[in-house]
Amino acid sequence: MFKKLFLNLRYPLTTYKPIKKSTPENIIEIPTAWKGLELVIEDILDRFDIGRDNCIEFGVEFGYSAVVFSNYFKKVKGIDIFIGDDHTTHKGDHYDKTKKSLEQFENIDLYKSDYKDWIKKDKEHYDFAHVDIVHNYKETYECGLWAVQHSKCCVFHDTESFPAVKKAVFDIAKHTGKKVYNYPHHHGLGIIV
Ligand SMILES: C[S@@+](CC[C@H](N)C(=O)[O-])C[C@H]1O[C@@H](n2cnc3c(N)ncnc32)[C@H](O)[C@@H]1O
Repeated sequence: MFKKLFLNLRYPLTTYKPIKKSTPENIIEIPTAWKGLELVIEDILDRFDIGRDNCIEFGVEFGYSAVVFSNYFKKVKGIDIFIGDDHTTHKGDHYDKTKKSLEQFENIDLYKSDYKDWIKKDKEHYDFAHVDIVHNYKETYECGLWAVQHSKCCVFHDTESFPAVKKAVFDIAKHTGKKVYNYPHHHGLGIIV
């Protein structure tokens, strides 16, 4: 309670208030901390007039958020090392499992890559980006800064459950001069636009 208050004072982000909530047509039923956020994605895209061509996601795991985005974009690229990290429950290679369960979603392309290698070679600009990798400050800042500079709108998961993510979102918005919001539900979603 006091910790949260302190964090909000230290990193003041405008609270995002959705006007409408909508359930996307395609969802996969798997346990994930992302559950609930699918209801506000369309609202965010409409509010900030985001194009619907391409989306990039860093941190796919079993594909819940990637499938949510596949409802709204022509193409979704999912980048992940697919071995888990210090903060995930699942450890070990899950590329084949994720690939198989997402094969019906033809507009999702998965890439087994570290974001560090990916951002060195990708020069594309995206309508939308999502960062949900290991929740450390350094990695979230580095991957997030690239994602914000290569998209119109970038969202970050776990701003409420990981103070390091909230701080990185606050600092990236300051660095880029973009607007920043925080949706404080379902572990928190930072929005930089
Ligand atoms: C919290 S999970 C993603 C959850 C997913 N967005 C969902 O909807 O359930 C974090 C993922 O980030 C990946 N990851 C961690 N560090 C990474 C890195 N340096 N580059 C790419 N992916 C990374 C892990 O392998 C893991 O699958």
